[in-house]
Amino acid sequence: MAVNINGRLVAKDTCQALRPRIAALPRPPGIAVVRVGEDPASKVYVGRKTQRAERLGFHHKEIHLDVETSQVELEAVIDAVNADDLIDGILVQLPLPDHLDSTAILDRIAPEKDVDGFHPVNAGLLSQGRPRFVPCTPCGVMKLLERSGVSIEGKHAVVIGRSNIVGRPMAMLLEKANATVTLAHSRTRNLPDLLAQADIVVAAVGRPHFVKGEWVRKGSVVIDVGINRLDDGSLVGDVDTDAASKNAGWITPVPGGVGPMTIAMLMENTVRAAEFRTA
Ligand code: GUN
Repeated sequence: MAVNINGRLVAKDTCQALRPRIAALPRPPGIAVVRVGEDPASKVYVGRKTQRAERLGFHHKEIHLDVETSQVELEAVIDAVNADDLIDGILVQLPLPDHLDSTAILDRIAPEKDVDGFHPVNAGLLSQGRPRFVPCTPCGVMKLLERSGVSIEGKHAVVIGRSNIVGRPMAMLLEKANATVTLAHSRTRNLPDLLAQADIVVAAVGRPHFVKGEWVRKGSVVIDVGINRLDDGSLVGDVDTDAASKNAGWITPVPGGVGPMTIAMLMENTVRAAEFRTA
């Protein structure tokens, strides 16, 4: 049976380690979290982010806008937080309602306040191997691997999913840590054959139980980024965890695996932004 990787524990340690850095700042780190509309999952995630910021003593602004908010109105909100000296980090919770142009909004966030790491300047720096702000979820996965004592160098890592939020930056971080990386996606053929050669698997496809237990190579490390709500209300990942645990050497649970790390890394990125901005 696989060793369970406890994301709650690592997230807690990560946040505790920030406390002396926060205390050393001339003022509390400031974060603005912007949410548009009534997506229920976004409401939960934003609530967790602001709660964690509050517990760490951050100055925080939660900006909740009506679902009918226009592109121009949202851009004006971004401009205001960009100009607010007490705000170090800005996060616009995705997905935005369909009538809004998310790319234009993310491009408008000041790169030095882009604690989500989605701005093309930060994505470009990562792609050149000189990361500044790295998207929180893949950054959290790297910390989980490190803390679990998993060595990455020379390993074959298969990342499933090529989003700008997880898959693509994940592949870059693993490659920077000297893994040989395969970036698989919805058009990939013979995924089971690829997984049969994988030492590390990161599943970020957003489909419940997409990765079958029998695809998982004996002793491999399985990181499940998926959070899917089933019709019965239960939360499951992208991996069939029970079946995969019989083959994997290490595995992350859902919930309690990658999810808490995303929030912890957002806090760390915000502290880094505050350190840069107050230096
Ligand atoms: N929606 C799902 N994951 C994320 C994330 O990491 N950041 C933001 N802003 N929105 C998300």
